[in-house]
Amino acid sequence: MTTAAIIVAAGKGERAGQDMPKQFALLGGKALVAHSALRMTAHASIDHVLVVIGADQRDLLNRALGSLANVTVVEGGAERQDSVRNGLAAAQSLGCSHVLIHDAARPCVSSAVIDRLIAALETNDGAVPALPVVDTLARGEGVGLGDPVDRTGVHHIQTPQAFALPAIINAHQRWTGSAATDDAQMARAAGYGVALVEGENALAKITHPADFARMEALIQSNLISRTGMGYDVHRLEAGEELWLCGVRIPHDRGLAGHSDADVAIHALVDAILGALADGDIGTHFPPSDPQWRGAASSRFLEHAASLVAARGGLIDHVDVTLICEAPKIGPHRGAMRETLARLLRVDERAVSIKATTTERLGFAGRGEGIAAQAIATLRLPLKGQMA
Ligand code: CTP
Ligand code: MG
Repeated sequence: MTTAAIIVAAGKGERAGQDMPKQFALLGGKALVAHSALRMTAHASIDHVLVVIGADQRDLLNRALGSLANVTVVEGGAERQDSVRNGLAAAQSLGCSHVLIHDAARPCVSSAVIDRLIAALETNDGAVPALPVVDTLARGEGVGLGDPVDRTGVHHIQTPQAFALPAIINAHQRWTGSAATDDAQMARAAGYGVALVEGENALAKITHPADFARMEALIQSNLISRTGMGYDVHRLEAGEELWLCGVRIPHDRGLAGHSDADVAIHALVDAILGALADGDIGTHFPPSDPQWRGAASSRFLEHAASLVAARGGLIDHVDVTLICEAPKIGPHRGAMRETLARLLRVDERAVSIKATTTERLGFAGRGEGIAAQAIATLRLPLKGQMA
């Protein structure tokens, strides 16, 4: 089973009333489309993540996903079903056997729902998350109440919707109806069996302006605060470049160590990993792994930030203290804040840089090396989300 997640994000989002298409508007500090893309890429059963966007939305997507690797970008079409069809063709050329088709407008897809859908595909052509309607249903006659509608057996049908790839491609080819709001109705019309699995309230679609506020509240209510600390030291040597907080600083000596030996970023990465309770810089970036050998420390930091995002978490604040006699940090603080904020994809106001000397005492005082301490405060999902 080779499974692709197709995230359709090529709409205009006109009803959401944002100043950009809703899939790129911020929710909980990151773009709507990034929520599901990160959760899908983090799921062990999903082999490819395809994001379908409009032809003129590349810049918006790059900004939304940052350095997120392993995402295939596909160009969408005029209607949702055109965008899905392009995604299906791309999944086919990647050799996939199964697909999950998902609306970018539903940010909070949990690993549990993905597990249920994939399990249902063992015995069904397709599967959709569904929630029974619990409210009374009735027609409206203008502003007046009209006839009740029997809600027995009526469900909200959500996404992701999971299918055997040949089945859903065939269903799309045979569909002659008008614009379809989802893919399961096409599969059913083509004679395929589509199972209902348990949906989730958190999967609700963002359509109107008020939905952003509601989803924001839902996300926030499920987050708990976690703090981590980090500490690192590197030796100062002649002939090395000096990199601190991702900024090259003119100095007579530089820090020695792996790659750029950016002691501040190393401490900060450890602080973030500490808050995640997920090992340390050595376990994540072993110098023996060719992927990381000689890599710029900025990549470690971006990766640490992506681990937070993959868990559905947020970086609330980071605070770095550099301990050295020289160089003076003050003149570089602005550039350092800007650089760390960009790498972490947080607001600059969430990044603090401080420096102190040790009154010429100890190794830092003698100028033999530079030490750095960092603290990171994260908010992480309490339950239900990617663990
Ligand atoms: N979508 C798409 N291609 C289209 C239209 C919609 O990929 N031509 C995607 C949207 O980006 C969204 C999902 O399909 O993730 C569900 O559609 P909807 O909620 O209707 O989003 P929009 O069409 O963008 O919003 P609106 O109808 O309010 O303009
Ligand atoms: Mg639409």
